Amino acid sequence: MADNTSAGFDTVCIRGGHSAESNRAHLTPIYASSTYTFDSAEQSIAVFKGDEPGYVYGRWGNPTITEAEEKIALLEAYKLTNSNGTPLQLKAILHSSGMSAVSTMLLSNLKAGQKIITHFSLYGGTHELIEKILPGLGIEAVIVDFHNINKVEDAIKADNNIALMYLETPANPTLQCIDLEALSSLGKTYGLTVCADNTFATPYLQQPFRYDVDYVMHSTTKFLNGHGTAIGGVVLGRDLEKMNKGVTKMHRLLGGNSNAFDAFLLTNGLRTFGLRMERHCSNAAQVASYLESNNAVASVNYLGLEHHPDHDTAMRQMKNGGAMLSFELKGGFDAGVNFINKLQMCTNAVSLGTCDTLVSHAASTTHLGVAREQRLAFGISDGLIRVSVGMENIADILNDLEQAIT
Ligand SMILES: Cc1ncc(COP(=O)(O)O)c(C=O)c1O
Repeated sequence: MADNTSAGFDTVCIRGGHSAESNRAHLTPIYASSTYTFDSAEQSIAVFKGDEPGYVYGRWGNPTITEAEEKIALLEAYKLTNSNGTPLQLKAILHSSGMSAVSTMLLSNLKAGQKIITHFSLYGGTHELIEKILPGLGIEAVIVDFHNINKVEDAIKADNNIALMYLETPANPTLQCIDLEALSSLGKTYGLTVCADNTFATPYLQQPFRYDVDYVMHSTTKFLNGHGTAIGGVVLGRDLEKMNKGVTKMHRLLGGNSNAFDAFLLTNGLRTFGLRMERHCSNAAQVASYLESNNAVASVNYLGLEHHPDHDTAMRQMKNGGAMLSFELKGGFDAGVNFINKLQMCTNAVSLGTCDTLVSHAASTTHLGVAREQRLAFGISDGLIRVSVGMENIADILNDLEQAIT
């Protein structure tokens, strides 16, 4: 197993979490087995009691899943230490999707009567879960503008039932950034459980555990897998006892387990994660500056640009401006539709974080069913195009955007 305190980030991507195979396979195979055998009743007792390591049943995990989990845990904890200077140890639990990971984390930390405090800009699925499903279980949300720390503090002070602070930065799809250090420290002051969705930034750009958060979640579907081959999610936690008990129990009983095939694809994608992110981010910076110079573009929303309202916050907590951006075409809805139809290389698809550049026009796809006023209030204007900048040669990306815009 690569040591995440001294080895390079790419070395951890390639070697982290790998254990030698009894049959000497170079790569961990896809363990297509729903159950596991025991040599004796005594051994099964030891494994069930947790006195001996071992696999029991596929919903609880398997060796292919373990490798992906350990690799992601090493990357999120990369070169981080506890307050006493010892290396930070994390436990990761792989899930069938990002939504499943978020659900397990929330349901294992909240009970009826308790509340979540969160920012208004969140991934739509998480927002719906918080607004439509959790209230039925007695868990309500307090939604505040997390850019205003004083308001967040006032809201926490005003309601003793707030038990959990939910952060997502940068947020999908607005790219709004909120201050992880200030918010996490505020949450801790008031005894809240603090959790962060790190899907957009990934541990390559940002490590929320640096700011003492309790949990990090990802949709591994995106940059971690990196090739668009599997839906998946992960919950990571620093309190190993809670992770091994409450969170593991919730994961097993809700049944949102991953599977060996998807875990294999994830591990395979993670081997090139650092290299891919380097290329994604440098291409994105070049696409952003090209779009800024195009007269048909009204505005460019990229965290690496100095005029972005959250640029300073992003640069404090992220390595660079990332791989995601959006831009507004001057011609509104029709210009958006026209642009998408003229693309010759970039892919017209939702989702993000794949090798190829993915482009989507929110008003005619993800937000088609949302009333215009509501969509505008979320910052999703008629001609807004979201781009997950891929790893193609930059000249080819720019040429395609240019011919589709003009
Ligand atoms: C920030 C964020 N969190 C969670 C999710 C949910 O992930 P999944 O689609 O893998 O369930 C997404 C999906 O786009 C996302 O962007």
